[in-house]
Parts: sequence; structure tokens; C-alpha cells
Amino acid sequence: MAQKIRKAVFPVGGLGTRFLPATKALPKEMLPVVDKPLIQYAVEEAAAAGIEEFVFVTGRGKQAIEDHFDISYELDQTLGARGRVDLVDTLRSWMPDPGQITYTRQMDPLGLGHAVWCARKYIDDEPFAVLLADDLVLADKPCLQQLIESYHTKPGNIVAAMDVLPEHTDRYGILDIEEDKGQLVSVKGLVEKPLRRNAPSNLAIIGRYILMPEVFEHLSKKNTGAGGEIQLTDALAKMVNSTPFYGLRFDGRRFDCGDKVGFLEANLAFALDRDDMKKAVERLVKSYT
Ligand code: UTP
Repeated sequence: MAQKIRKAVFPVGGLGTRFLPATKALPKEMLPVVDKPLIQYAVEEAAAAGIEEFVFVTGRGKQAIEDHFDISYELDQTLGARGRVDLVDTLRSWMPDPGQITYTRQMDPLGLGHAVWCARKYIDDEPFAVLLADDLVLADKPCLQQLIESYHTKPGNIVAAMDVLPEHTDRYGILDIEEDKGQLVSVKGLVEKPLRRNAPSNLAIIGRYILMPEVFEHLSKKNTGAGGEIQLTDALAKMVNSTPFYGLRFDGRRFDCGDKVGFLEANLAFALDRDDMKKAVERLVKSYT
């Protein structure tokens, strides 16, 4: 039986340049979609999928993330004194237990592959998940849960995948497909941000992965790739001949919250998905059309 996925890595060390000046003092992962920071959505998704240990790879200026996953005594006390116990609950109910979160610093934002490599001591020798908080997925069944279920039927590396427009392949890691079974795809290669004419398919990786610990051996070589960064995709490409590798076309809608338009769209979609906001937001949208 495949080993249980107990640990997840949250790379939150990036600079978030596309959101400057908002991200000058505020980590990109703390940007709120409706009323919840991106990183909280990712942690809740992981917890719902059974993750027990949460490893954050942070960097300079990311303290707000640590504070968010901590008790705020002043706020608790003030709200308690005002009789707002309901709000105290919204501050605490989703928090992992003390000791379940570990923080390590990337120190230099050398790329996603490097960020994942920084978590190696905490993952050790077991398969693990990676979640990128700026990829937000609206789904009935959490995207990571879908990946984990798939991993238990077909153990190996598995990434969440979605078909993108051919002219957008240069924004993503792209899968070279061996066999396409509709939802599950076996993979024979990966290329980071290929131009349309060089792309092996238009099936793109989005920010949810289940990875075998052997990935750390490849990441430790610290080879740079697209954009001069240490790319996770390049390390994964080295594993396709030695480890079963799959892409899963997940059920759900993904929003690229690292991009301004994607972030706005996520706010709209998540607000429209809420009973307390749906009607007002529908009226609002209508007034702009
Ligand atoms: P992005 O590619 O979106 O980069 O990272 P970024 O620096 O966050 O944002 P832009 O492109 O400058 O606007 C995708 C994810 O990988 C993490 C980011 O924090 C984000 O969650 N990341 C990226 C790291 O943790 N370290 C890195 O060196 C690069």
C-alpha cells in the first residue's frame, strides 16, 4: 500500500513582484480573497486532505504569515469583552495545533525548486505534498484530496493539471503525455514555460503536487532553468524514467492569484459562491455590464 501523505510544503518565499506595491510590506500569500488570506485557503485544503505537518518555506518580510497562524490574545480579549465569541471562533477554528507548523527560511528566493529543497530536513524520507497558495482552486472536493486519492490507486509523483490555451504554454510547466486516459494522464516528460511551438502539449501543471522524496536528490544539484531560477519542473523531469509520474485533470476551477486579473476573478468567483454575498455581488456585476 502507498505510504500515507502526512506532510505538506508551502513555498511562500517569493517576492510577489507582480503585486508591487501591495507586496512591499505584505506577503503575497496574505492577500485576501473575499475575507481570507490565500495561505489560509491552502492550509485548510491541506488539513481537509489529512495533512498533519505543515512546512512553510518563508523569506524576508513574511512575518505576517507566522502571526496569522498564531493566537492573537489582544484581539481575542477585546472581542470576548464585546461578547463577539462568534468572531473569536473565526480566528481560531481553522488553525493547526501547536507544533504542527514548522517554518524555515529560504534566505534567497532562487526559485520554486530551491524553496522546496529548503524543506528537505522536515520531510525526510517520505512522500509529501506541495501547495502553492497563489493557485486557488474552487472545488467540491478539495484539489489535494483528489490528488491523494489518485496517488493511492497509482502511487508515484502526481501533479494537478489543466488544459490551457496553446498560446499560454509559456506561463506554465507543461506535461509531455505518454498516455491520456481522460482524467489521469501518464507523463514521460516535463518542460518549464515552453513557447507554443516547442510545447509537447497544452496540459499545464498547477500548484498542487504529490512528490516522492527522491526529488530532493535532483534539487540538490541546484541547476538553474527558465528565468535563471532553480525550477521544480526540471527536477521532476529528471525523475520520469525512474518513478511513475502522473498528471490529474482535477475537478474544479483554478484561479491564478499571482496575477492581478486572476486575483480579481477569484474574488468574484468566491464571493458568488457564498450565500451571504451572492445576490449583492450579482447586482454589482450587472451594474458594470
Ligand atoms: P511565483 O512564480 O508566482 O513567483 O511563485 P513570486 O516571486 O511569488 O511572484 P512574482 O512572479 O514575482 O509576482 C510561485 C510560488 O512559489 C513561491 C512563491 O512564494 C509562490 O507561492 N516561491 C517562488 C518561493 O517560495 N521561492 C522562490 O524563490 C520563488
